[in-house]
Amino acid sequence: MDGNGRWAERRGLSRLEGHRRGADSVRTITRAARALGIKRLTLYAFSEQNWGRPVLEVNGLMHLLKDYLLNEREEILTNGIRLEAIGRLERLPDMVRETLDELRAASSHNTDMVLCLALSYGAREEMTYAVQRIAERVRRGDLNPDQIDEHVLASELDTVDADLIIRTSGEQRLSNFLLWQSAYAEFYFTDALWPDFGKAELQEALAVYARRNRRFGLVA
Ligand code: IPE
Ligand code: MG
Repeated sequence: MDGNGRWAERRGLSRLEGHRRGADSVRTITRAARALGIKRLTLYAFSEQNWGRPVLEVNGLMHLLKDYLLNEREEILTNGIRLEAIGRLERLPDMVRETLDELRAASSHNTDMVLCLALSYGAREEMTYAVQRIAERVRRGDLNPDQIDEHVLASELDTVDADLIIRTSGEQRLSNFLLWQSAYAEFYFTDALWPDFGKAELQEALAVYARRNRRFGLVA
């Protein structure tokens, strides 16, 4: 979800105002995805690297996140959405983590759609911690090194393979998002800034995705 800052700067607004409008897009896109029958939507909301932004912006984003979780609680629960989160959640301020944990627990039995927030997330970090846990299993004698295959590694990661990865704002890179899980993902890049990315833009991305020929290394 990229381009909140540029959206605001072009209008002479504060970056935080851009993030507020970005949160509106999150609501719109979550509703649209559910209506379109998408089963899992993962949103890269805050990266491990984003902690390095100015402290005022980081604090603003954390408050926005907490407000989002409180405001969306009812809609998430009544629409059968299960809220999940990936990343180093222990780095989040208590007020965010408590709100997040409460909604994750309250929505844990919902099955219509998973809304997964990547928070304090980095794919290299995710893979590094997965390797640490595997090494620990080996040290305990629960696993032999020659038993480590891609299924073992995948099972230690925080989330599953992605089918489609959308990046807004004209940037064409992954920026430490789902490096392992994107091995066979389709990529869709759009110049639209995240606050301008609405239902029509999502439908266009899905229409492009539907025309792709996915072969997974095999012949057609
Ligand atoms: C993405 O918008 C939102 C977050 C990283 C939280 P940016 O803040 O990266 O917006 P630009 O890239 O400055 O336009
Ligand atoms: Mg950006």
